[in-house]
Amino acid sequence: MSDPVQIRIKENGSIRVKGTVEIIDGEGNVIETKSDFSLCRCGLSTEKPFCDGSHKDVFKAPEGLGEI
Ligand code: FES
Repeated sequence: MSDPVQIRIKENGSIRVKGTVEIIDGEGNVIETKSDFSLCRCGLSTEKPFCDGSHKDVFKAPEGLGEI
């Protein structure tokens, strides 16, 4: 049995995903991923849905939605 997928919300940053998952866009296309990557949750990345680091110094998550 494989380890469960881990999804971690980074404080004022991305959503880190560790494990094998399938991401499907709005048109039904599968987006290729690695087994360890970060998703953008600030909306500033030029590589959406992935984080490109653009959140640094500008993104502040709403209170209570920081790091879990
Ligand atoms: S969370 Fe990193 S660029 Fe948006």
